[in-house]
Amino acid sequence: MYIDTATEKYQKLKSSGQAVILAIESSCDETAAAVVKNGREVLSSHIYTQIELHKKFGGVVPEVASRSHTEKINETAESALQKAGMSFTDIDAIAVTMGAGLNGALLVGLSYAKAAALALSLPLIGVNHIRGHIAANYIADRELKPPFVCLVVSGGHTALLEVTSYCAHRYLGGTVDDAAGEAFDKVARVLGLGYPGGPAIQRAARLGQNNIAFPKIQLKGYDFSYSGLKTAVINYIHNQKQKGGEINVPDVCASFQVAAVDILIEKAVLACRELKQSTLCVAGGVSANEYLREKAGRACAENGIKLCIPPLELCTDNAAMIGAEGYNKLMYGEGISGLELNTAASLRL
Ligand code: KG4
Ligand code: ZN
Repeated sequence: MYIDTATEKYQKLKSSGQAVILAIESSCDETAAAVVKNGREVLSSHIYTQIELHKKFGGVVPEVASRSHTEKINETAESALQKAGMSFTDIDAIAVTMGAGLNGALLVGLSYAKAAALALSLPLIGVNHIRGHIAANYIADRELKPPFVCLVVSGGHTALLEVTSYCAHRYLGGTVDDAAGEAFDKVARVLGLGYPGGPAIQRAARLGQNNIAFPKIQLKGYDFSYSGLKTAVINYIHNQKQKGGEINVPDVCASFQVAAVDILIEKAVLACRELKQSTLCVAGGVSANEYLREKAGRACAENGIKLCIPPLELCTDNAAMIGAEGYNKLMYGEGISGLELNTAASLRL
């Protein structure tokens, strides 16, 4: 019964090309909701961040995250509707992150989205979180169209893709061990800078110099490796301590940041040149990094490549990007999800 009504609504939306989507994101430590029109226009976006809750543990505690999502999901969604000046009856479809992420955390958002879809007989769209990060670029640049090269750099993913259409991509390469964001987080932890590590390293790096030669690990093709760089930083710190030498935290951060970022941008530019793509998009939390943004800006300008990096609030986890990707799946994908939709904690790209 539900699926018949939802399918009928989906077909109408698809033929009109128009949809106002309520999007829900709860994969990690942000409870977020947004209202997005036609995949490109953010009518509202509300993010409740759990950072303060997890800080004292030095990282995200899954059970604490799930409980907090449960407490905040209702008011977050209502707040997004209110900010958009809308009510549930103005919504055409519900998009929700189904993976990858922490399973308990994902379940909170998915249960909320299913309940809303069922109550309103609305089409439900399960969204891959990382594809959501990529789709943030369609909001950042309303004229952006595939194909383009996309560098994905988040806490759990580091990959280079050729995005060939709104719903398809070709994997060019990626990390063979740690993700770039994970390396920022681990190095920050070793330096006692706390969680989240990326912003803390960036802040410290502003006061330092790139004067320690950490290795820029070169793998073949478009692959990356971060465990060697992380180990090099840890070894440097241990050696300095053993020698009774000084550890200049800002210098370590500035040097690590350059080693971690340069290789990403070099390979992303190479991919654009080799594939003759004129646009590079960057996606995921690490794309908020100011050195990465500056380096990508310079490298793209020198190589005649158009660069698209979302504004900071769309780089880290948010629901607007889930609404953008939900629209792509609705209009160009294989159809809507039924209420049997489940979470997929290890969902791949
Ligand atoms: O995309 P995201 O918000 O969540 C995942 O989907 O993983 O990415 C989080 C990652 C964390 O590793 C965080 O340290 C990193 O993005 N990050 C940064 C910055 N802001 C967030 N890394 C470097 N510089 C930043 N300014
Ligand atoms: Zn993310």
